[in-house]
Amino acid sequence: MPDNLVITQNRTGKQYSIPREMVMPDHLMIIDSRTGKEYPVPITNGTIKATDLREIKVSAEDVGIMSYDPAFMNTASCQSKITFIDGDKGILRYRGYPIEQLAEKSTYLETAYLIIHGELPTKEQLQQWTHNITMHTMLHENMKKFMEGFHPNAHPMGMLISTVGALSTFYPESRQIFDEESRKLQTFRLIGKMPTIAAYAYRHRLGLPYVYPDNELSYTGNFLNMLYKMTELKYKPDPVLAKALDILFILHADHEQNCSANAMRSIGSSHADPFVATAGAAAALYGPLHGGANEQVLLMLKEIGSKAKVPDFIKRVKSGEAGRLMGFGHRIYKNYDPRAKVIKETADKVFEVTGRNPLLDIALELERIALEDDYFVKRKLYPNVDFYSGIIYQAMGFPTDAFTVLFAIPRTAGWIAQWQEMLLDPEQKIARPRQLYLGHDTRNYVPSAKRTS
Ligand code: ACO
Repeated sequence: MPDNLVITQNRTGKQYSIPREMVMPDHLMIIDSRTGKEYPVPITNGTIKATDLREIKVSAEDVGIMSYDPAFMNTASCQSKITFIDGDKGILRYRGYPIEQLAEKSTYLETAYLIIHGELPTKEQLQQWTHNITMHTMLHENMKKFMEGFHPNAHPMGMLISTVGALSTFYPESRQIFDEESRKLQTFRLIGKMPTIAAYAYRHRLGLPYVYPDNELSYTGNFLNMLYKMTELKYKPDPVLAKALDILFILHADHEQNCSANAMRSIGSSHADPFVATAGAAAALYGPLHGGANEQVLLMLKEIGSKAKVPDFIKRVKSGEAGRLMGFGHRIYKNYDPRAKVIKETADKVFEVTGRNPLLDIALELERIALEDDYFVKRKLYPNVDFYSGIIYQAMGFPTDAFTVLFAIPRTAGWIAQWQEMLLDPEQKIARPRQLYLGHDTRNYVPSAKRTS
């Protein structure tokens, strides 16, 4: 064999020779069969830069090759140091810490600090952080009036999204997004006020007076206070329920580049303020394929009605007649969702206080049958975080349509971390995907009288 050639093999194992200069470590060698030209594309951290493909063209006027990736199935849109997921192994870590350890040992506010700052706080830092958030739980009285304007049957997510967006008008300095102090202040406000808005939305529905925050209680204890306090002078949250809610909040605090985090980054990339960006992220969360799924799980379990009807329901899901099995499947987890495991354990503790939710039996039966069924096994569909969370929330007294709000409160920490990371990343610009235009070529306008259908 000539010296300038080396033997290599393709994916099927077939061997062939290529010029020695084509062998470059950490490069992907692309040969454009249209022109015969070769393009070495650098590989960094297992990725190639989509913009490098623009060099591949058939003529000087050609704009070059684009990658086509609807729904970002194989596109990394950013570099991130916040959350790591290995969907095949069922791993979820915030800043390197396994979710199971955080759920067992941390608190939501400590985890929120970790997610946003990158490190666990010292004792003093945690005290200061907790104090700062607690000092920003109250809403401007005009916001209360704003919320009073909603229809009594308004969906709590609609109320939350609008009210968070409206906070932007109360804090115009939040537009100083490159001012670190301003970002810190808006972070305290967002994490502090989310539970207050959520609780007001809940009480609005019931026609109950809004309850002001109690700064002596924990983050979730105060949330329960604002939800459930009646005529008593001081509300005493059940410690088991406050702890369970805190664990659920930890589990929901971030989940890397999901639909709502991507919305937060995308809106934030135009340098909009964090309140409207959070409103946009919450709107993305509202959809039934994302955070709205836990509400759909409960509706589905109620529709099934009894354990005996589960096999028939599964049959109808498989035939496409009953839609998807809500709370099952995940774009990333192709193994058990590690959050679902922790939630299942938390459920038992909650039911000791609230009594067993009868829907649990239907859910357990659904899980049992689905995990043995070829349709679900082949497609690697396992229970996700939403499968059991709704059952716990219902047992704790939350109405079904408030479930997504319970997701939005803790996810605020993740959204802020993702937004801040995007803003400080010198590689990021305004998010602007390309498209593959397949519509009409130019054509002339036809007056309506001359149009035929
Ligand atoms: N029930 C029945 N079939 C399902 C389900 C389900 N829950 N999920 C996926 N499938 C099937 C699809 O029909 C498809 O089958 P096919 O290959 O025969 O066409 C296959 O599994 C792959 O489905 P995709 O839609 O390609 O998977 P994708 O990764 O795009 O979707 C999603 C993930 C949206 C979560 C999906 O599994 C789903 O709709 N689940 C129900 C809704 C839900 O629980 N969402 C919460 C997700 S967790 C969260 O956002 C916090």
